[in-house]
Formats: sequence, structure tokens, C-alpha cells
Amino acid sequence: MAPTEQAVIQHLEPLAIADALVLTVEAGWNQTAEDWAFFIAHGTVFGARDAGGKLIATAAVLPYSAGFAWVSLVIVAKSHRRQGLGTRMLNQCVSLLRERALVGMLDATPAGAKVYAPLGFRTIMGLNRWEGMGGAVVDRGEPVRPLASSDVDRIARFDAIAFGAPRNTLLANWWSRAGTRGFELADEIGYGLIRRSRIASQLGPVVAATESSAIVLLDAAIASMPGAVFVDVPEQWADIGAYLSTRGFAVQRPFQRMALGIDRPYGEPARVFAIAGPEYG
Ligand SMILES: CC(C)(COP(=O)(O)OP(=O)(O)OC[C@H]1O[C@@H](n2cnc3c(N)ncnc32)[C@H](O)[C@@H]1OP(=O)(O)O)[C@@H](O)C(=O)NCCC(=O)NCCS
Repeated sequence: MAPTEQAVIQHLEPLAIADALVLTVEAGWNQTAEDWAFFIAHGTVFGARDAGGKLIATAAVLPYSAGFAWVSLVIVAKSHRRQGLGTRMLNQCVSLLRERALVGMLDATPAGAKVYAPLGFRTIMGLNRWEGMGGAVVDRGEPVRPLASSDVDRIARFDAIAFGAPRNTLLANWWSRAGTRGFELADEIGYGLIRRSRIASQLGPVVAATESSAIVLLDAAIASMPGAVFVDVPEQWADIGAYLSTRGFAVQRPFQRMALGIDRPYGEPARVFAIAGPEYG
């Protein structure tokens, strides 16, 4: 019997966030303690511990109120990979989805996709994570204005349409984090958020009517945030790719958006130019 077959899978409690961050760091992921705390408070996080009580794997389900849930934070410690533990963790998530009659959605790394495909998840969209440096750009007087706290509820209404489910609590959570900035187009509906994260600031969501409007928002957000920036962009947006390349960004890795039980994205993908991050959708 593989040692991982004996691993005990339980719900992760807030006290385990420090252990979960060890896995985040080992995997080179960007999530912070605030992200883990949000998933524990508003979703279900499974954790597997070895016989000595060490956390060796996690997986999470974050339900949205439109009949679907995001499956994420799927990490297996390097020492325990390729023994079936990732599949066991995902099976826990799939059982929960079935119990609650929720469609499962996720943004998979290439390694993750190998685990999800045999469980029935199908690719519905490709994404690229772009990585580059923010700040140091002269303000070109683009038609954008910074968001204020009083704008967040209004933005949440547009966001619900574009994403496909309301996520006011999540937007308020990102907004409350130290260093978060947001921008809105002055003359049309469009907004973008950028929040500090563990390795790099995460730029997204960016929602707009057109790719050229989205580039205005991306430019403002990138200029506002010195240091490393990640932005996860649906691969169909070639003009954004060209803009990011010119801005010195490069593709760090692809993601595949996969779904279990549906064959198309929720919301209005034509308005989503950067997702909030692979863990949130
Ligand atoms: C992706 C990840 C979670 C997979 O975890 P895992 O525990 O290795 O997954 P599994 O063991 O269930 O399956 C992975 C592979 O092991 C194989 N495997 C499963 N049981 C096995 C066993 N007993 N012996 C040998 N191989 C086994 C699977 O067939 C699969 O093989 P493949 O890669 O050749 O297709 C892990 O690699 C990881 O944490 N990666 C970094 C973070 C990440 O990318 N997470 C996914 C986010 S979307």
C-alpha cells in the first residue's frame, strides 16, 4: 500500500493556515494567508496529513451562488506526488460537488490537468499567466480614474454579470487587503483590480467592453504597482498579449479552464480580459 493511502483527509481549520502556506511556498504559488483564510471561511478546504500529522496535500471547493463552484488550491507535497494522493483529494472535491449539485470549474496547471481529465473535467478555455514588472510608467492621462471604497458595490454588479455569479464578499475582501488598487474607465463600463500577493501582485479581474479598453485598464494598474506582477489572460486576447510583450511581460505558464458537467464558461467571457486568479476564477 502506498503511504498516501493511509493519509487522513479532514477539513482544514484556520489554525492549519501556517501548514498550508508551507505547501504554497514549496509549490512556488502566489497565495497568501488571506487567501487560505477566505477559502476556509467561505468554502471547504480538505487537508491530508501523514501518520506524523504533517500536512501533505490540500484541495478546496469555493461555491458561488449560481450553481457552480471553483475547485482550487490542489497541492500535493513534492515528497508524496505520483502516488494517487492528488486524485484522492480531487475525488473528495467531486463528491462534495455532487452532494451539493454544483458544476465544478477550475483553472488547471498542466500537471493538474492530468489529474482532472480522468475524473471527467473537460477543457473549455485556455489562459496564459503573464509575468512582468509594474510601476515606472509615466501617466499618459488615459481616461481612467482610481476606484474608491464607495465604488466597490457598484463594480460588484458589473462583475456578477461578467463572471456569472455575484462575488461581493470576495471583491470586498480583496479591496480590504493592504495595497489593493482599482481603476475604472471614465466614459464606459470597465474596471480592473490589482492586489498584493505572496510572490507578485495579481492583476485581475479586468472587465471591459473591448480589448482596447481593457488595455487602458491594464496599463493603469501595471503602472500603479511597482514590483513583480502576474496577470492571467484568456488566450484569445492577442492584442493584450502584444501589449504585455511590449510592456516587457512574458508568458510564465499556461492554464486550462476545465469544467465538470458543462461545456461552456459562465457569465460573459467576451468581457473578461483578465481573471481574478486561477484559485478564484
Ligand atoms: C498536480 C498534483 C496535485 C498531482 O498530485 P499527485 O498526487 O502527484 O497526483 P496523482 O498521483 O493522483 O496523479 C499524478 C500522476 O501520478 C500517477 N499515479 C497515480 N497513482 C500512482 C501510483 N500509485 N504510483 C505511481 N504513479 C501514480 C497518475 O497516473 C498520474 O500520472 P501521470 O502524471 O503520468 O498522468 C501535484 O503534482 C502538485 O501538487 N503539483 C504542483 C501544484 C499544482 O500544479 N497543482 C495543480 C493545480 S491545478
